[in-house]
Amino acid sequence: MTRSMPGPPGESTRYKACFTRKPVLPKLAGAFSCRVPITPISEHCLLIGPSPRRDIVAAMAEPRDTPLREGDLDADPLRQFARWFDEARAAGAFEPDAVALATATPDGAPSLRMVLSKGVDERGVAFFTNYESRKAVELEANPRAALLFHWPELGRQVRIEGVARRVPRVETEAYVRGRSRASQLSALASPQSRRVPSREWLEQQVAELDRAHGAEELPVPDHWGGYRLAPEAWEFWQHRPNRLHDRIRYLPADDGGWRRERLGP
Ligand SMILES: Cc1cc2nc3c(=O)[nH]c(=O)nc-3n(C[C@H](O)[C@H](O)[C@H](O)COP(=O)(O)O)c2cc1C
Repeated sequence: MTRSMPGPPGESTRYKACFTRKPVLPKLAGAFSCRVPITPISEHCLLIGPSPRRDIVAAMAEPRDTPLREGDLDADPLRQFARWFDEARAAGAFEPDAVALATATPDGAPSLRMVLSKGVDERGVAFFTNYESRKAVELEANPRAALLFHWPELGRQVRIEGVARRVPRVETEAYVRGRSRASQLSALASPQSRRVPSREWLEQQVAELDRAHGAEELPVPDHWGGYRLAPEAWEFWQHRPNRLHDRIRYLPADDGGWRRERLGP
């Protein structure tokens, strides 16, 4: 269990299985005799080793100055997004495609959750979900929505606002067929956003569907599919060390392209 690990500067210590970043049960923590930070995750679980959050905070606090100048920006927000997305991936962003999706009821009550974007192109930003979920019920009644990508490793966020419409069925089928059987079973079994009797009930639904379909291909549920949000506005935000951050918004121009404007941070 014991192995030599480089300690903090000025210390030469033999650490025991530290820096694992694997959560361990609190009762086992004593066995590790670590001199590294221990982060409580829950009453049942501790994280031994530096917390990932500290890395993000450290990255944010780093004296990084990457100005966002008008001249450096692509005239097309989609190409600008693609550039930033690639840079986020190259910087090791955790799930760079994770995006917060805000919807609202017709009378303006907002709700917010994360989804995974599954393709960003000239048609918009696609994501997949349950058509009976809260977000879908809200989108059907009010298709106006907003997305927020956040890449703390680079001190960047991208806001997108627009209208979300269902993707063609054939696209949903292609996407679902590319997912693991376990993911397909969960999507089939789960009445997303509705009250369920218990965790056991959900697991039983999955087991029953699995048994019922044996080795055959699972059906693509009618109540499952994609939306694509067609952007009507984009905003690129770049952290600056002095907190005088850069914000550039793209809005539709009269000639069918995009015009850019700088916003106060
Ligand atoms: C990183 C992350 C990615 C997620 N991706 C999806 C997704 O692609 N589709 C989805 O329906 N739910 C996804 N979820 C779960 C949603 O955040 C949410 O719990 C669920 O869709 C129900 O939301 P609603 O009740 O507002 O409709 C994700 C959650 C996280 C944290």
